[in-house]
Amino acid sequence: MTLRVRPARPADATAIAAVYGPHVTGSVASFEGEPPDAAEVARRMAFRPRLPWLVAERDAVVVGFADASPHRSRAAYRWSVDTSVYLTAQERGRGTGRALYDVLLPLLRDLGLVTAHAAIALPNPASVALHETVGFSPVGVYPAVGFKHGAWRDVGWWRLALVEPPAAPAEPREWVPEP
Ligand SMILES: CC(C)(COP(=O)(O)OP(=O)(O)OC[C@H]1O[C@@H](n2cnc3c(N)ncnc32)[C@H](O)[C@@H]1OP(=O)(O)O)[C@@H](O)C(=O)NCCC(=O)NCCS
Repeated sequence: MTLRVRPARPADATAIAAVYGPHVTGSVASFEGEPPDAAEVARRMAFRPRLPWLVAERDAVVVGFADASPHRSRAAYRWSVDTSVYLTAQERGRGTGRALYDVLLPLLRDLGLVTAHAAIALPNPASVALHETVGFSPVGVYPAVGFKHGAWRDVGWWRLALVEPPAAPAEPREWVPEP
């Protein structure tokens, strides 16, 4: 049973959409209302500035993914990203979330990014444990910031300083996935 983490390719959009969809429809881990189709996932993967998308394959089948996206769009935020990880139900609790972050975080650091953030709809003990085990710390909670599946949901924010914030940060680079 081999686990492999690798950069996502456009051809992975269908598998990524299949992993992500149940989290949109069946949980509050994602605040989206409708699962994106493969074309929409491919559009997000190609969004500029390009940021990493990774997939985890178990025995050559995509069982999870991790991605980074801009924290906010205004210029001063360009060293800050949001990260997320989603796995198939069967893949949870097997170290795969950690394996994805073990590749993603050094990649973000290499691109010149400074801070990674994770928004976690509470409660989500697995996600909190994952983020804290890879080094994120809690920032605070937005109470009742979203309404989904019949209830108001709190979102906790966690952050990880990828590097000590530099006094004069160099421009972050875009991710260039291998062909
Ligand atoms: C959250 C998620 C990505 C975590 O990935 P995972 O592969 O299950 O986590 P791992 O097996 O790598 O475990 C990482 C750490 O979390 C702990 N952990 C995992 N599941 C846990 C649970 N249900 N409760 C408490 N701790 C848990 C592990 O023990 C491990 O801690 P350690 O390093 O101290 O031993 C995965 O469970 C998932 O896809 N959940 C549904 C989608 C989701 O919530 N995504 C996050 C959105 S913010």
